Order: sequence, then structure tokens, then C-alpha cells
Amino acid sequence: MKILVVGGGGREHAIIKKIKENPEVKEIFALPGNGGMSGDATCVNIDAKDIDGIVKFATEQKIDYAIVAPDDPLVLGCVDALENAGIDCFGPKANAAIIEGSKVFSKNLMKKYGIPTASYEVFDNLDEALKYLETAPIPTVIKADGLALGKGVIIATTREEANRAVVEMMQNKKFGSSGDNVVVEEFLTGPEVSVLAFTDGKTVVPMISSMDHKRAGDNDTGLNTGGMGTVAPNPYYTKDIAKECMETIFLPTINAMNSEGRTFKGCLYFGLMLTEKGPKVIEYNCRFGDPETQVVLPLLESDLLTVMKATTFGTLEKTDVKFSDKSACCVIMASKGYPEAYEKGYEMNIPETLSDKVFVAGAKLDGDRLLTNGGRVLGATAVEDTLDKAIKTAYSYVDKIHFDNAYFRKDIGAKALKALTEVK
Ligand code: AMP
Ligand code: GLY
Repeated sequence: MKILVVGGGGREHAIIKKIKENPEVKEIFALPGNGGMSGDATCVNIDAKDIDGIVKFATEQKIDYAIVAPDDPLVLGCVDALENAGIDCFGPKANAAIIEGSKVFSKNLMKKYGIPTASYEVFDNLDEALKYLETAPIPTVIKADGLALGKGVIIATTREEANRAVVEMMQNKKFGSSGDNVVVEEFLTGPEVSVLAFTDGKTVVPMISSMDHKRAGDNDTGLNTGGMGTVAPNPYYTKDIAKECMETIFLPTINAMNSEGRTFKGCLYFGLMLTEKGPKVIEYNCRFGDPETQVVLPLLESDLLTVMKATTFGTLEKTDVKFSDKSACCVIMASKGYPEAYEKGYEMNIPETLSDKVFVAGAKLDGDRLLTNGGRVLGATAVEDTLDKAIKTAYSYVDKIHFDNAYFRKDIGAKALKALTEVK
């Protein structure tokens, strides 16, 4: 079987490594992939947003199954275009990917169907937004409607900060047309949990829960990033909470999308906050999260390709999806300066013995040398019987990997470890 994976980060590398375990898979193409995954897939320099280029390549290569991993191509209709060309796909069509592509859509969906989330107001006019902010409770959360590389959310702790955020988004167009509409949302508190779920539009199967570490610095300080590390499972996500989420969030979301004529197939990501008033949705993503995927998939015991195909063909109910009861920890090694300015082009040294433990996100080949080529460079993942061991082992991998200007958080998993002693 010939498989195509659209995307080129650590998440895609984790998907590719798992897909490779299926003996029927003969060839995997990554579009565009990155130099660090060239041992696992054939990387082809076609941009993940070049939908026409992707369809042309997939048709010429007679691809049997395509996995569209990032948000941009999904929102742009990559699955629709590939399916129109007769190629089976993993991922939602554009009319369902809007659940991530428009925060106004997702907030209105949750309101209409009674799915718990932060209360909110939507504005398409700067003056009205500024007027509302004169009396809104502070802190408040300002969100650009559209995709903004994970940077379109501002937690404003003063009124001035809130005003500045809406001016930046609505007037100065910091995120282009993504900021034409903004959501001003109630500030919630509580532990955060990421739950990725397979769904074929009828059945929803949550994967093992995980915890992201979004801030750049130790102890959750500094700027928001795409994610500096993850652990799974998330100790805050107890069996009781999982049951409640299934009843109040997961199934209602799938049903709501069906009622809207926007059946969602693929991986639906629930970003949850466990508030004093119960679990609430912070955000939906229409895809696997990154770096969550780098801890979740190594714990999957079932065949990933089989499960993915079941979401495409509507047979998820009859498909086994089993996770190990071990723990995983992923530490992201980034370029110093990320998520702001950073340098690239430093030679990377990853010992051969770790090749199965490392998912490469930002690298390029220069002859046979691997050079850093992004903010997030790689994720080192360990799977062990306990979380404590997984954290220690992941950091022992990090110690053996070298490139100049490497930066990583030293406390990935520390909060989860503490929670293990507090949460039953
Ligand atoms: P997002 O880019 O949507 O994942 O949001 C980034 C981060 O902002 C989330 O992981 C939360 O930590 C935080 N956040 C988003 N919405 C809220 C909210 N309503 N209350 C508190 N924190 C929030
Ligand atoms: N880790 C959060 C995301 O993938 O958006």
C-alpha cells in the first residue's frame, strides 16, 4: 500500500512511524515532510497548503490512502479535493474542519447545543469591542476567529492589555483576516487536559488523555508556544471525568456536527479545562495535536492504519482501539529564542540508538548532515511503566542529543507527577 501524509512536523513523524508498523504499508510519502524523517518516508517538496499540487501528486503516484494532518490544508478542503479525485482520506472535510477554522462557529455551536464552554461575546466592529471591554470582567480572553498559528489567543490581565489585543487583531490585522471577528471570552481556571478522539461521525473513541506544556519557560512562565512537551495519561483526567466528558461534551459535539450537516470524520481534539463547575471546552482542533500525538501514538497498541480507515469507512464501532497502561513523556528540544527569533542551520547529532525515540519537527538534510531548520526541532519520547520513569528516561535521551543553541524546558511532567499524589 502507498500512503501519503500531508504535513511535516513532529506530529507527522509520529504518525509515519506508527503507520510503518503495518506490514501492508510499502511506501510512505510525506508532503513536505522534513529532512529528519527521511529515513522513514520519502519527503517531497510540496507545500501542505498547495492543495492542487497534493492532489496531482497523489493521483500520479496512485496513492491508496492519504492522511491530512495539519489544520491549514484541512480547513482549505484538502480532504474534499483528494476524495473528489477518488483517494480515500483520514481527516474531516472543510465543512467540518471549520470547528477549528472559526472560533465564532465553534462557540456558537456549543451555545446552540448546550455544550459546556466559557461564556463569550462576538464582535465584528472595533468600537463595539472596545465599549464592551470597558466593563468586561478582567482577566478576559481575546481570541481571533480564524487560524493564527496558535498565537491568536491573548489572556489579558488588565483592561489596557485587552484593548491593545483587539486593536492589534481588528485594526492592525496582526493575524490578517483571522482577526476580522474576535471572540471575547470568560477567563476560566483549572487543570487543562487534551483529549484526542477518533470518530467516524457515529462512534467516538477517545484516545489516552494527555497534558501539554504550552509556555516557553519552566513553571509555566514566558510566551505561549506550539507546545514544549507532553505527558500521557493526564492524571487529572479520572475515569469519572472521562465519563462526564463523553456524556456532556464528546457525544453532544459529534451529534451537533451531524445536525448541522457537517459530519466530522478523523481526529477531533478536545482542549478541556476541568473547572470547579465541571469540564468545559477551551478549544476544538480538527486534527491530532502536536506535541500530544508524540506521547499518545506511542501508547497505541492497535494498528493505527486500521483505526484510521475505520473512521473513513464508518466502521469504528467494530474496530479495536487499545492503549497501553504505561506512561509516556515527550520533551521538545527547540532553538534558543523560540517562539520569537531564533537561528537555524546547526548540525544535529542524534545517536542511532535513539532513532525510534525521536520525532523530528524542524530539520533539513545537507548532504548526510542533519541541520536544525525550525523553532521546535524535535521531540524525545520515552514510554515506561510509570510517569516518573518516563520523565527521567525522556530527559536521559535529551542529554544524548546535541545541537548548538538547543533549548528545552526542565520541568516537563513535574506538574503531572505532583498531581498523581493529589488526585486519586
Ligand atoms: P489555544 O491557542 O486556543 O489552545 O489557547 C491557548 C491557551 O490559552 C489554552 O491552552 C489555555 O491555557 C488558554 N485559554 C484559552 N481560553 C481560555 C479561557 N477561556 N480561560 C482561561 N484560559 C484560556
Ligand atoms: N498542542 C496543541 C495543538 O496542537 O494545537
